[in-house]
Amino acid sequence: MSDWSSKNPYMSEITENYILNGEGSRKETRHIVFDLGDSGLDYKVGDALGVLAENPPHIVEELLEVQGWDRETIVETHNGARDLYTALKKDFEVHLANKKFVQSLAHKVVSSGMRISLSIVSRSRNGEEWSASDSQALPPGLAPNQASDDPVAKVEALVDDAKAVEDYLWTRDYIDIMREFDVKYSPEEFLELADRLKPRLYSIASSHDAHPGFVELTVGIVRFEYNNRPRGGLCTQFMADEIDTSGAPIGVFMSPTKSFILPEDKSTDIIMVGPGTGIAPFRAFMEQRVFDGGEGRNWLFFGDQSAKTEFYYKETIEGWMDSGDLYRFTTAWSRDQEEKIYVQHRLKEHGAEIWEWFENGAYFYICGDKQYMAKDVHRALISIAEEHGGMSNEDATHFIEKTMMREQKRYLRDVY
Ligand SMILES: Cc1cc2nc3c(=O)[nH]c(=O)nc-3n(C[C@H](O)[C@H](O)[C@H](O)COP(=O)(O)OP(=O)(O)OC[C@H]3O[C@@H](n4cnc5c(N)ncnc54)[C@H](O)[C@@H]3O)c2cc1C
Ligand SMILES: NC(=O)c1ccc[n+]([C@@H]2O[C@H](COP(=O)([O-])OP(=O)(O)OC[C@H]3O[C@@H](n4cnc5c(N)ncnc54)[C@H](OP(=O)(O)O)[C@@H]3O)[C@@H](O)[C@H]2O)c1
Repeated sequence: MSDWSSKNPYMSEITENYILNGEGSRKETRHIVFDLGDSGLDYKVGDALGVLAENPPHIVEELLEVQGWDRETIVETHNGARDLYTALKKDFEVHLANKKFVQSLAHKVVSSGMRISLSIVSRSRNGEEWSASDSQALPPGLAPNQASDDPVAKVEALVDDAKAVEDYLWTRDYIDIMREFDVKYSPEEFLELADRLKPRLYSIASSHDAHPGFVELTVGIVRFEYNNRPRGGLCTQFMADEIDTSGAPIGVFMSPTKSFILPEDKSTDIIMVGPGTGIAPFRAFMEQRVFDGGEGRNWLFFGDQSAKTEFYYKETIEGWMDSGDLYRFTTAWSRDQEEKIYVQHRLKEHGAEIWEWFENGAYFYICGDKQYMAKDVHRALISIAEEHGGMSNEDATHFIEKTMMREQKRYLRDVY
């Protein structure tokens, strides 16, 4: 056993880092391999890897410049005393602004009594563009009577409205806000407001038996752009842009699961539903089932935008089908035809057979998007129980949510 943790991560080297998408894809999904070296770290399929990233250097540089801070200034942080550059790079989340900071503006602009004119062009969550030069248009989150060139009035209108703050933050980072209101903070004041940098979790996409000494991930890189500046996710950009090219080590630790596990009995059938990056743990499950050599059948539902550009692990999957290790492989390519086809549509199409598998004791696993996909798949399972199990809606809901999920623990989810 090793005692690596989020507070004491193992500094691992990335040995492989490549894009899984085909040319012309709208996405950037990467396969990333970490060397566990002499760490003694172990894992089982279903576990997640914790990754500790850093802020992009260009954001830290721009922040120092906008505020006129000296990078060498020594500051106290939750990780001890460090120079300001290191604190901004490694200890706090400075790539996206938080609500506390917006609230602090009220005091800042009132105490400085400033007047500015708005000049930023921004985009709201629904993609609608707002420009200050258009006198009819308003920034997202501001009602007509709240629009003002007066920063005091603008901040007051903003801080009283939680939804407006959320919309405002969606398109702006600290640098945008500091420029917009021309406010200055001392390093200590700013670090008091900024969030501590948190590790991100990733479902492990490999079996340790199949890849001794390595751990592998399937990562969707988060990138977007506002006000002509490229933005994105802290950890995914770090793995894609900084670590990929520098060869520098990156802090990792294991986050074991107690529940998202394979059935103990290797003759039990399993159904796995993992669109997009949701495929990650099922690559690991398949590797483990092949390694263990049990009798249980494996059925994988996978999908993403297009077979041409998002068929992740195509050769590996085809190999499992050829060898008979994958009994069934069902795809849902959402954008390869006029109407959207999602995994839940495929589940319903195969409802009769899925119900047979359930009656035979099969486990059902789901991984990927929590907000929409997992809820729709849940509803599809209830309708399968109604249609093919001859149950009322109430009984079907009870069967899926209580019997399968809570009592028998054979409907298992890894959703985010
Ligand atoms: C148990 C678990 C397993 C997971 N497994 C995986 C996995 O296998 N693969 C994987 O890729 N991810 C996985 N995730 C998600 C992962 O942990 C991170 O949340 C994800 O990679 C984003 O992290 P980040 O640091 O790059 O982005 P962050 O810096 O955390 O930023 C993400 C935030 O950016 C904001 N944002 C996103 N798009 C926009 C936009 N267009 N405009 C404005 N703001 C925007 C949103 O507020 C969003 O919450 C998993 C999560 C959990 C909890
Ligand atoms: N919590 C976080 O910080 C975080 C960070 C990054 C990603 N995520 C989540 O992780 C998910 C995985 O991203 P990903 O790029 O791998 O895949 P994804 O965006 O989930 O897309 C995978 C497939 O699912 C389809 N889909 C969209 N809505 C669906 C629905 N309601 N039901 C079923 N399928 C649906 C997509 O189709 P279309 O695109 O054609 O509609 C696509 O074909 C994202 O959706 C995101 O919500 C969370």
